[in-house]
Amino acid sequence: MKIRHMVLSLAFVSDLLVEANLIPRSLAEVKARLETRKRRKKPTASALVEDGWPKYFQEPGGNDLANHYDSRYEHGILSYEDKQDTQIHMMRAYLDFFKKNKIETWLAHGTLLGWWWNGKMLPWDWDIDTQVSGPSLMYLGKHFNGSIYDYSSNDSDPDLTPVVERQYLLDVNPAIIERDRGNGNNVIDARWIDIRNGLYIDVTGLSETEPQIAPGVWSCKNLHHYKTTDLYPMRESMYEGVVAKVPYAYDRILAEEYQEKALVVTEYEGHKWHPELKEWVKKTPAEIKQERLDRQDARRKKQQEKMQRKKEKEEKEKAEQEAKEKGLPLPLPEVKGEGDKKVEVDEGGDQGIKEPEKEPIVKVKRGANAEPDTEEEEGLVLERETSGLKHLRRRRLEQDLRQ
Ligand SMILES: *[C@@H]1O[C@H](CO)[C@@H](O)[C@H](O)[C@H]1NC(C)=O
Ligand SMILES: *[C@@H]1O[C@H](CO)[C@@H](O)[C@H](O)[C@H]1NC(C)=O
Repeated sequence: MKIRHMVLSLAFVSDLLVEANLIPRSLAEVKARLETRKRRKKPTASALVEDGWPKYFQEPGGNDLANHYDSRYEHGILSYEDKQDTQIHMMRAYLDFFKKNKIETWLAHGTLLGWWWNGKMLPWDWDIDTQVSGPSLMYLGKHFNGSIYDYSSNDSDPDLTPVVERQYLLDVNPAIIERDRGNGNNVIDARWIDIRNGLYIDVTGLSETEPQIAPGVWSCKNLHHYKTTDLYPMRESMYEGVVAKVPYAYDRILAEEYQEKALVVTEYEGHKWHPELKEWVKKTPAEIKQERLDRQDARRKKQQEKMQRKKEKEEKEKAEQEAKEKGLPLPLPEVKGEGDKKVEVDEGGDQGIKEPEKEPIVKVKRGANAEPDTEEEEGLVLERETSGLKHLRRRRLEQDLRQ
């Protein structure tokens, strides 16, 4: 009774502290509150058109791929290789520009996930995302909007004459002064555009939009929320061969946005993770064909097994029916037992379905008991240690996931 009383009064005191903003709410709680407020504030359909900013950045649209080009500079969809080459240099140029002008920027979303695996772009990704602080965004809008950045690279080989010479446009959305989602047309605050082909980097600013109810929570206009302590102090690392920053709690941020499986699954979008190379490698047409054949085989086998089971069942029912009609006793229980056993064997046959390259998705343990207590989890930690960057390999996801 006494302990219960104490716990209750402790809970009461901690509630008071939270109300007084003396101890932080959990991020989930803060998010829930922000979402409810957003929903309450939702404008009507006519207000959307009247009050909102018109959409600033334009993409040709039409299909998924065409949404990744700026309408003014696009001349059709690039090949896989051209896209790769465009994105790598675009990102290096972007990071150069920010470094030279001493403006802080860091990797976000899929771009951060690519960094986590091997410090590079995810080869299937068409989006490149970075973030800046709200004040940096305003600074960019005021001093660098519309500027063209000249970039040249000889791919760090000093014997080569510059082989790559490109220009990038920094275009800042005039709607940056609005930090709420608004009508949703302008959630991207700025773009870094390759003017040869229209591919771009999406830049979004994070602002403390609700300092009263959610101090220390930073949001972009697309309603991703981050705690100050998850962002800072930023970590300096490398991305595509140049210095880049990543948020302090990059693993928590990634796990929250993509679930832990994005950090373990080693086959994705027609690519396979090669641990020795530390690269995502595109599957060859032969591999893809083989996988399709294997899947067909597996399906056919399953179908056959299903038919077999159906046939057996019908035969059994028929036998029972005949026995009934002849007034004979019903089939003996062991017949049934045999049937059960068969089903089991059939199910075991499913192991024949080829999915060996796929890593098992092991749930990453959250909470206090973070020590790997099964072999599976040990394996998971090892797998993770083969990816990411050297100085970060020793870090354990579980430790950061601990609230
Ligand atoms: C190649 O790039 C390096 C590093 O940027 C530079 O120091 C070197 O002068 C460049 N070489 C040529 C021939 O442009
Ligand atoms: C940036 O420049 C473009 C083109 O002149 C202009 O339309 C836009 O409003 C500018 N953005 C800001 C933030 O001033």
